[in-house]
Amino acid sequence: MSSWKSFLALLLFFTCATCSLVDDIVDAIENAVDCGSCHALLVPLAGLALLGDSAFSSTITAVCKSLGVEDDDVCEGAIGQQGPILANNLRSISPFGQTATKLCDSVFGLCQPPAVNKFTVPFPKPAPTNPKTFVSTGKPPIQVVHFSDVHIDRQYAAGSDVNCTKPICCRNYADHTGPPSVAAGPMGAHNCDTSPSLAQSMLRAISANNAFSIFTGDVVEAAVWLVDRNEVTNDMSVFNNEMAELLGAPVYPAIAAPVNAFPRNTTSKANAQWVFDAQSKGWTKWIGAASATQVSHFSGSYSVVHPGTNLRIISINTVYWYKANFWLYDSDTLQPDPNGIIGFTVQELQAAEDAGQRAWIIGHMPPGRQDTLDDQSNYFDQVIQRYRNTIAGQFYGHSHQDEFALAYSDYSKQTAENAVSVGWIAPSLTPRNGNPAFKLYDVDPDTYEIMDARVFISDMDDPSFQTNPTWKLYYSARETYGPLVPDLKSTDALTPSFWHKVTEAFASNDSAFQQYISFKNRGINIESCDAECKRVTICDLRALRAENNCDDATPGLNFRKRGDGAMRSATHDDDCEGTGLGHIFSKMPSKIVSTFKVY
Ligand SMILES: *[C@@H]1O[C@H](CO)[C@@H](O)[C@H](O)[C@H]1NC(C)=O
Ligand SMILES: *[C@@H]1O[C@H](CO)[C@@H](O)[C@H](O)[C@H]1NC(C)=O
Ligand SMILES: *[C@@H]1O[C@H](CO)[C@@H](O)[C@H](O)[C@H]1NC(C)=O
Repeated sequence: MSSWKSFLALLLFFTCATCSLVDDIVDAIENAVDCGSCHALLVPLAGLALLGDSAFSSTITAVCKSLGVEDDDVCEGAIGQQGPILANNLRSISPFGQTATKLCDSVFGLCQPPAVNKFTVPFPKPAPTNPKTFVSTGKPPIQVVHFSDVHIDRQYAAGSDVNCTKPICCRNYADHTGPPSVAAGPMGAHNCDTSPSLAQSMLRAISANNAFSIFTGDVVEAAVWLVDRNEVTNDMSVFNNEMAELLGAPVYPAIAAPVNAFPRNTTSKANAQWVFDAQSKGWTKWIGAASATQVSHFSGSYSVVHPGTNLRIISINTVYWYKANFWLYDSDTLQPDPNGIIGFTVQELQAAEDAGQRAWIIGHMPPGRQDTLDDQSNYFDQVIQRYRNTIAGQFYGHSHQDEFALAYSDYSKQTAENAVSVGWIAPSLTPRNGNPAFKLYDVDPDTYEIMDARVFISDMDDPSFQTNPTWKLYYSARETYGPLVPDLKSTDALTPSFWHKVTEAFASNDSAFQQYISFKNRGINIESCDAECKRVTICDLRALRAENNCDDATPGLNFRKRGDGAMRSATHDDDCEGTGLGHIFSKMPSKIVSTFKVY
């Protein structure tokens, strides 16, 4: 046992035999207002963790319930699942080290992320001096659908209450009494995750006219406090079967986290191999046996050349770079490339370069947002820079919003010339954040660059939505944003440089910017975005490398207020994390202020 641990054990033995540990923890939470006091809070939490996982979880659950942070069942489920992960972390790391600082950033929002730890990604070959150029011969584009964040609730219940006290509604919850205040229709509602019928409707709609689809993940509904391994396995398998039956063309999926938690291969007490094995099996029909083997061996990542094309699709597991994957904090030893995902990406991009192929990178979490670890985002950006001539596009989901993000060869000179790569971020199917949507790309079959991106939605206010949802064109990126960039020729693709010019137009033309903001959530819950929010939003569009985004935690606030008030449009709600530990801890201080004195 390290010395700080024996010190803690002693401290607990002498002090907490007589006092209530819960009181210490509530006091420490109340006093945790900045990075230093967050580290201090980890000391009693680590003391609690030394008493064992169940003591830890039951104590934190008691605090959650007594403060009324969430309904009792939500407190129990979420902490029952993630509490042991946090307890294991607290027993394994120093409360004052850099891993603890990262934990204080991700769970509590009280520390700024530490500066990037310098690491140079090794490449098998230097960049070619005369890289192959990919030239369009003007053939008609092929159509590729991109859908994301389906979050299908297999327990969606028509007739249940749309209005409830849980994080998602439209379910028959055991503790719900009385008739529904608003009865859920058969297709869906904004407080709820996707009904199976709505998901099937979308799959039928996109089967009409596409060469193949890409699906950037998140199958399982957001009731994470209830989700277990059986349910995850079942949900993934049912959706794989539905896609196979209804799409009529291949789909290339990206792995996403069940309940945000993929342990690293250095964690001995847990692993997520069962998820990778299940998806390896479930995806073989589209990606073939060799790529399916990669899914099992590279933590859900694989690469596949779409038949009849010169396009290599590299699907990577970005959840090892995700701040809310709490397994990442179980060691003080830095791991530049957890589970080798960056190494795998390099290997596959080198293979594409050697074969004269173009590549698309697809993944669940875009690697530039506030919820990405700066270290891994920086290392991944080095890969983007090295293979920028090979990569024709990157495709992500996770934010539930219709967005994009740019990488630059020089982030201190963000110009159209220096923009080297664009991440296309798809809106979600789940109606929680806006009208259900998908994106359809027109793809040049020589360069695999994007000629247009059209978003389709099903309008939930349409009276026929609950019986027979229709999917209509919402907007075309080329038609909407093309006129803002006068030098765009009709034969030009929507390149990184084009998107940079669009961000310049947003900066100078507020009506163009406000239109982008309303498109983000497909016309629902449109955020008011003032000058400061606009500055942050444009900064973030130019930050596929996380250290360059402007989503800093706000010092002085009692924990970061996720998605609250003015911060809402500037930072991103973490809708994929759902009601996890981070969410619960972030709500505790305000609950203490309002209710603790009667505790
Ligand atoms: C939803 O429930 C809350 C709390 O029970 C209630 O105040 C509100 O009026 C309800 N909303 C609707 C639309 O019924
Ligand atoms: C973890 O994965 C990395 C990258 O694939 C590999 O180099 C390393 O040997 C693995 N470690 C363990 C303990 O399996
Ligand atoms: C500003 O953007 C709007 C689109 O919202 C467009 O109609 C208008 O022409 C733009 N103005 C200029 C000067 O480009």
